[in-house]
Amino acid sequence: MISVHILIYFFSSISIVIGINPLAHKDFFDVRQLYSIKSLFDAGVHLGHKTGVWNPLMKQYIYGDRHGNHIIDLNETDRHLFLALNVTSHIAYRKGVILFVCCRPQFQHLVQKTARECQEFFVIQRWRGGILTNAHKLLPVPRLPDLIIFLSVPYNMDAIRESAQANIPSIGIVDTDCNPNLITYPIAGNDDSLSSLELYCRLFSTAILNAKVQRQNDDNYTIDKSNDGETPRDNSRAEMAS
Ligand SMILES: *[C@@H]1O[C@H](CO)[C@@H](O)[C@H](O)[C@H]1NC(C)=O
Ligand SMILES: *[C@@H]1O[C@H](CO)[C@@H](O)[C@H](O)[C@H]1NC(C)=O
Ligand SMILES: *[C@@H]1O[C@H](CO)[C@@H](O)[C@H](O)[C@H]1NC(C)=O
Repeated sequence: MISVHILIYFFSSISIVIGINPLAHKDFFDVRQLYSIKSLFDAGVHLGHKTGVWNPLMKQYIYGDRHGNHIIDLNETDRHLFLALNVTSHIAYRKGVILFVCCRPQFQHLVQKTARECQEFFVIQRWRGGILTNAHKLLPVPRLPDLIIFLSVPYNMDAIRESAQANIPSIGIVDTDCNPNLITYPIAGNDDSLSSLELYCRLFSTAILNAKVQRQNDDNYTIDKSNDGETPRDNSRAEMAS
């Protein structure tokens, strides 16, 4: 919850130009409809690590154990995934900059493909320390990101520490052996299987694309589009972000 005040600042700077207020809705972008608990189960999201390697900070997200492996409580996962997709949609709708980070070799390609699909940014090679906290470093995005999505926590601890230090809101998939404390929106789930990773990627990509379409729709019906106080962004650099 480290970055909540940043989020509040971010959302309170909105000028409502078209008379609808997305923030007044519980689920303005219908992210509830994007998945079911069964779809999480079918993708193996509930399958945690061996009980011996768990992180006790994950206790509240664990349902029990079976054959020596922890089973993640999908009710908890559902609750947090919903919040994370909701906030992702709101940020995309506000034309925020979203950065996908996954330096785990076996999922690099999937994460790159996902970021390109929804026209956002990605870092899939080694994290260069200081890119968020040191103004002289070259950013992989046009400006500091408004949200960072970590698809693999253990492989990205340096980046996670840095995003917390820079007060940038983050979403992270946390398996039973992870430390969820530095992540603004932790989502308990299997971080090892391709089927789970594909599901997370598809959900975030869809949430972002839906929000962008909604935004375009609303912009098209806006009478006064002259200045709504947003920072312009440069999509042309998306491909460079590796
Ligand atoms: C969804 O996110 C928006 C923006 O942060 C927030 O105003 C709204 O309350 C959230 N919905 C829920 C159910 O938390
Ligand atoms: C999840 O919630 C449902 C409905 O609230 C409940 O029936 C079910 O037992 C819960 N499952 C777990 C694993 O807690
Ligand atoms: C909004 O208008 C633009 C330009 O006229 C058009 O290309 C786009 O398809 C429209 N978007 C939607 C969602 O209607």
